[in-house]
Amino acid sequence: MSKEIILTTTNLTKKYKKQITVNNVNINVKKGRIYGLLGRNGAGKTTVMKMILGLTSISSGEVSIFDQPIKNNKKTIYPRIGSIIEVPGFYSNLTGTENLKVFARLRGTINPNAIQEALNVVGLPFNDKKTFSSYSLGMKQRLGIANALLNDPELLILDEPTNGLDPIGIAEIRMFLQKLCHEQGKTIVLSSHILSEIALMADDIGIIHNGVLLEECTLEELQKKSEQYVSVQTTNMIDTVHILESKLNITNYSIEDDNFIKIYDLAHSVSLIAKVLVDANIELTHLQLCTDNLEDYFKKITGGEGIA
Ligand SMILES: Nc1ncnc2c1ncn2[C@@H]1O[C@H](COP(=O)(O)OP(=O)(O)O)[C@@H](O)[C@H]1O
Ligand SMILES: [Mg+2]
Repeated sequence: MSKEIILTTTNLTKKYKKQITVNNVNINVKKGRIYGLLGRNGAGKTTVMKMILGLTSISSGEVSIFDQPIKNNKKTIYPRIGSIIEVPGFYSNLTGTENLKVFARLRGTINPNAIQEALNVVGLPFNDKKTFSSYSLGMKQRLGIANALLNDPELLILDEPTNGLDPIGIAEIRMFLQKLCHEQGKTIVLSSHILSEIALMADDIGIIHNGVLLEECTLEELQKKSEQYVSVQTTNMIDTVHILESKLNITNYSIEDDNFIKIYDLAHSVSLIAKVLVDANIELTHLQLCTDNLEDYFKKITGGEGIA
């Protein structure tokens, strides 16, 4: 899979009067993947997306999309992006198809089959009689995504696309978003304040808290942090690693600092690890089996407040 970066922000910052709501955010979105921006309400997710899309001014920093700074290149960049920021203003007395016709005309959509194709992707009927006012929340969200897809964009930016949906609705949206990425090579940036939703949908995750990007990593990296591990602290990390590798064949570990290692390889009991290290005259200062779940991890990095 390509790891080409198609969207980056560099020290992206937004100030409202004295309040800094987005603070030097650097995100990197890879082509063909789903990037999930995770943060509590008020963290700055919508503001980041609005700055990326030119819907609010940038106080400082830069956004680069498709290898071009958005400054001076808006006309070439934005037609290649589809987005939903807050609920699109659909007409309640029109059907889904009629609503998309209005937006397609406004946007100069050329492909005559665009509406049917977009509805098909999100699993809504074409030329159905149901008016928007009688749509369920899930159907409304899906129509919003269909609208964002009309011009066959390479990049989709979706602010809280699963907000308020039940697990089935979330699973349906997840399925077609993943299909769009993994089969059609589109790239998606989405946001959510719900950890479990991001963990289900995203390939890469950026965690934003009080306007600061605390972490950016792949889902696998994040899940690793939530796995069980044996925490080992010694006074000699080089010898410790050598003993663990040579005597116990342990290869799945991460060195946290000069005297702290996490072992994810749980084939051996904690007592055996202790015995082998002690037998090798390693001075053990701490050894414990730990389980960090994702929630615990978020609480830790967001200073105890956690995320939904
Ligand atoms: N137009 C605005 N004027 C002043 N403050 C704003 C404005 N829009 C957003 N904010 C503030 O910026 C912060 C981040 O908001 P937002 O980006 O909407 O967060 P999120 O989408 O993560 O919930 C919040 O404290 C919010 O009150
Ligand atoms: Mg928001």
